[in-house]
Amino acid sequence: MKNVDSPMILSASVMHGLGMHLGAWRARDGDVTDYITPEMYLHIARKAEAGKLHALFFADATSNSEEGTDRPCGALDPVILLALMAGATRRIGLVGTASTTYSTPYDLARRFGTLDHLTRGRAGWNAVATGIPAVAAQFGGVDHPNHGDRYARANEFVEVVTKLWDSWGADALVGDKEAGVFARPDRVHAIDHVGEFFQVRGPLPFPRVPQGRPVIFQAGASPEGRDHAARYADVIFTAQHLLDGAIDFRNDMRMRAHDHGRDPNGIKVLPGILAILGSTEAEAQARLRKLNEAIGTGPEMLKLSRRVGVPVDALELDKPFPVHLLGRDEDFAGAIGFRRSLVNLAVKKGYTVRELLAHYGGGHQQVVGTPEQLADVMQAWLRAGAADGFNLMVDILPSGIDLIVDELVPVLQKRGLVQHDYAHETLRANLGLPDVASAKA
Ligand SMILES: Cc1cc2nc3c(=O)[nH]c(=O)nc-3n(C[C@H](O)[C@H](O)[C@H](O)COP(=O)(O)O)c2cc1C
Repeated sequence: MKNVDSPMILSASVMHGLGMHLGAWRARDGDVTDYITPEMYLHIARKAEAGKLHALFFADATSNSEEGTDRPCGALDPVILLALMAGATRRIGLVGTASTTYSTPYDLARRFGTLDHLTRGRAGWNAVATGIPAVAAQFGGVDHPNHGDRYARANEFVEVVTKLWDSWGADALVGDKEAGVFARPDRVHAIDHVGEFFQVRGPLPFPRVPQGRPVIFQAGASPEGRDHAARYADVIFTAQHLLDGAIDFRNDMRMRAHDHGRDPNGIKVLPGILAILGSTEAEAQARLRKLNEAIGTGPEMLKLSRRVGVPVDALELDKPFPVHLLGRDEDFAGAIGFRRSLVNLAVKKGYTVRELLAHYGGGHQQVVGTPEQLADVMQAWLRAGAADGFNLMVDILPSGIDLIVDELVPVLQKRGLVQHDYAHETLRANLGLPDVASAKA
């Protein structure tokens, strides 16, 4: 059972150009180019901080997704966006995705280290192994590595990154102008890493970052993904449509963390919820209807077919979801977490394809209703030990974040579930994570 006195963690996920819902770009007011302007992100950052959200999260597929030019489905570079937002905020955590398959550890450690310095300890890295085969085409035409190889590389990748973050001892910087001693050479170490995938000498070219290490987020749900997260992640995002599945997942992750010699309370599990809010239930349903009508079922079917690995032609709207056509998880190239959550939902509820689409939520649990109704679900999940907090998917940008901050947060605050202010300076401390031990000499 979770300690209900501790406030829940709240993060908002900013993704897919103009909102999580595929119809967002057509249903929303405002210019379609808003997602490539600084104003929208500055508004989001200031608003989310006014709502005392722990973090803003920028997902990233690196490349344009398969929908190509159908809608704004690519994204700007997360770290540069976060740097923009850093200048407009003081407390909120700024988290971005970067791939362990399609980047290199030194470059990544330096980039997120820089962000941690410039935010004074508010940076987070969502380490993804990248489950989208098309990304390979952007990186020298290499073949997309298989699932096992991606995670083998991811494990070594994170080891190297953390070694680099530890390459300056906390007391390495002396800054003695009179004596002419800038830093102690005995407290700054090359890492001399030689492994299966990487050879990296180190150290990083700047002093230890304010958090010791930026907070590591992870979202893999396959056995390899879970093991990776249990070893290295501070925060774990997950797609869970059903309460039982979410409880099992959190228990499993806590157990795995314990097996790796970690304190289970040192990891935080945040299921995603696509929030479609209205001041009445009818208003929320109207918001969803408008989004659905803006896009039609075609693109949603295509996305669903990719998420679960069933050809789109085999999906008939008013027929039961074709479970018998699912291949083995082991042979599936995409993200296993989304797939399992959706398939479990379809099987447990006996949904037709149309019903599954109605609850699809872009891959996450979807709650359509008033702030009180959403708060009820969040409270129940927290109480049941299914979550340490939530990663709220924003349906339409930026109006969805305005609704979360103006309508949902006050309800959660009134119930004593979320913070009224930031208690600490760093993201790590605000999330209730243990300190990172200072690098050894
Ligand atoms: C909340 C959430 C956010 C995610 N964000 C990204 C992302 O930004 N980029 C990405 O390539 N994959 C993202 N993923 C996908 C996972 O990282 C994906 O599960 C992984 O690539 C494949 O791991 P798995 O097969 O172990 O599930 C996200 C998943 C979740 C649940």
